[in-house]
Amino acid sequence: GGSYDFLVVANRLPVDRAEAGWKRSPGGLVTALAPIMEKSDGAWVGWVGCPDEEVEPFEHEGMTLIPVGLSASEIELYYEGFSNATLWPLYHDVIAPPEFHRAWWDAYRRVNERFAVAVLARAAEGATVWIQDYQLQLVPAILRERRPDLKIGFFNHIPFPPPEIFSQLPWRRQVLEGLLGADLVGFQRSNDARNFARSARRYTSAGGNGAHILVGPEQRSVRAEAFPISIDTQRISDLARRPEIQERARQIRHDLGDPKTIMLGVDRLDYTKGISHRLKAFEELLTEERIQVGEVTFIQVASPSRERVEHYRHLREEIEGTVGRINGAFDTLQHTAVRYLHHNYPVEEMVALYLAADVMLVTALRDGMNLVAKEYVAARFNGTGALVLSEFAGASDQLKQALLVNPHDIAGLKDTIVAAIEMPRGTASRRMKAMRRQIIVHNVEEWSATFLNRLAEVTHG
Ligand code: G6P
Repeated sequence: GGSYDFLVVANRLPVDRAEAGWKRSPGGLVTALAPIMEKSDGAWVGWVGCPDEEVEPFEHEGMTLIPVGLSASEIELYYEGFSNATLWPLYHDVIAPPEFHRAWWDAYRRVNERFAVAVLARAAEGATVWIQDYQLQLVPAILRERRPDLKIGFFNHIPFPPPEIFSQLPWRRQVLEGLLGADLVGFQRSNDARNFARSARRYTSAGGNGAHILVGPEQRSVRAEAFPISIDTQRISDLARRPEIQERARQIRHDLGDPKTIMLGVDRLDYTKGISHRLKAFEELLTEERIQVGEVTFIQVASPSRERVEHYRHLREEIEGTVGRINGAFDTLQHTAVRYLHHNYPVEEMVALYLAADVMLVTALRDGMNLVAKEYVAARFNGTGALVLSEFAGASDQLKQALLVNPHDIAGLKDTIVAAIEMPRGTASRRMKAMRRQIIVHNVEEWSATFLNRLAEVTHG
C-alpha cells in the first residue's frame, strides 16, 4: 500500500554492488537527496544495474531503495537501444546518428510502465514524485493518468534538442505527452526549456506562452524551466584540503617526472565529450613544437561506459589508436606524452588528480551540464589552476570566468590551451576565485531545494 510521501525515480539506484552487499555510488544527486529522503519518509525507485536480479526493497544508509528488475533483453532494447542509441545521440546534436527501431520503442514503453507501477504501489495520497532523466520520459503521464493526486516533477539531466532535430523521432508526440504529465519539467539551460516548450506546442495540442504550457481541454498548467545542477562543493573542497590527498597529488606529479605543466581530461568514454578534438589539438601543438614532451604531460582519464553499444566500441578503438599514434611519435624513453587511463577511480584519487593538474580540459561537443568542470574548480581551494571549458557544456553558463572554447575550432582550442598554460598567476587566481564563489553558493543542495520548492509552489492548491 501507499506509504511514501517523497519518491525519486531514476534509471539507476544510487548504490553499486560491493563485496558485502551495497555501497553508495559517487554522484552528487544522491548526496543532495539522501537527507531529504530521511526527513520526508522517502524512497528511491531504480534499476540495480545488472540483468535478471530479483531484489526486494531494502534499506541502505537511511534510504529505502526499491529495485526495478530488467531482463537481459530489456537492457539491450530499453537501456542500450532506445535510451543510449536513440535518445542519447538525438538529444546531443546528433553527433552520432540516432537509430530508430520499433522494437526498442516498445521496450522503452514497457519499462517506463514498470517504473511507474513501482511508484503507484507505494506513493501516499498527495505524495511528491521526482523523476530523473531521459530514460524515463513516459513516467510522468502514466502517473498523472492513474493518480491525479500526485505532485509530479521531472528533471532532464541532458540537453533537450531544438524542434528541427527532435522532430526526427518517430514517437515525438508520445514522448512530449509523457513529459507533459509532470507539473514541472526542469532542464539544465534555459535554451533546453525553450526547445521543449516549442516542440510541445508544435507537436501536441498544448498551448500557453513561454515557460507556461497549457495542456488538454482542462488547460492544466505545466512549467518548463531551467535548474542548473551542481555538485557537493563542500565535500570536494574538504577532500582537497586533506593532507594525505595533497601528498598523493605531489606523488602523481613526481611519478610523471615533475613536468612544468600537467593537463587533465576526465570523462566517461563518450563521443559527446570531444576527447578526439582535445587529442588533435595536443598532437598539433607537439608537432609544431609549441609545447614539448616532458614539459607538458596530458593525463586523460576515460571511464568505461556503455561498452556494449556500437558507437562506444568504435570510439574506444579510435581514441586508443590516436593515443598510441601520439605516444609512438612523441614519447622518449624518459617521458610519455599522453597518459591514458581507461579506469574508474574513487573520488579521493580524482581529487588528487584535480590538485595535480595545472590545466583542466573540458571540450564537450554537447553536454547537459558537465560536473567535472565544477569538481575541478571545487578542488582548487588555493585559487590556482586554469579551466578550459566548452561553450557547449551547460556549465559554461555558471563558470563564466573559464577559458571558453568552441572545441570544433582546433586553431582556437590550441591557442586557448597555450593561453591556459601561460596564464599569469594573478589572472588565474582572479578567475578561479570567482568560479569558486559561484559553485559554493550554487551547490547541489541548493539545486534540489530550488526545484522542490518550485514544484511545491506550482502545485499549491
Ligand atoms: C549521464 C546521464 C545519466 C547516466 C550517466 C551514466 O550523466 O545523464 O542519466 O546515469 O550519464 O550513464 P549510465 O548509462 O552508465 O547510467
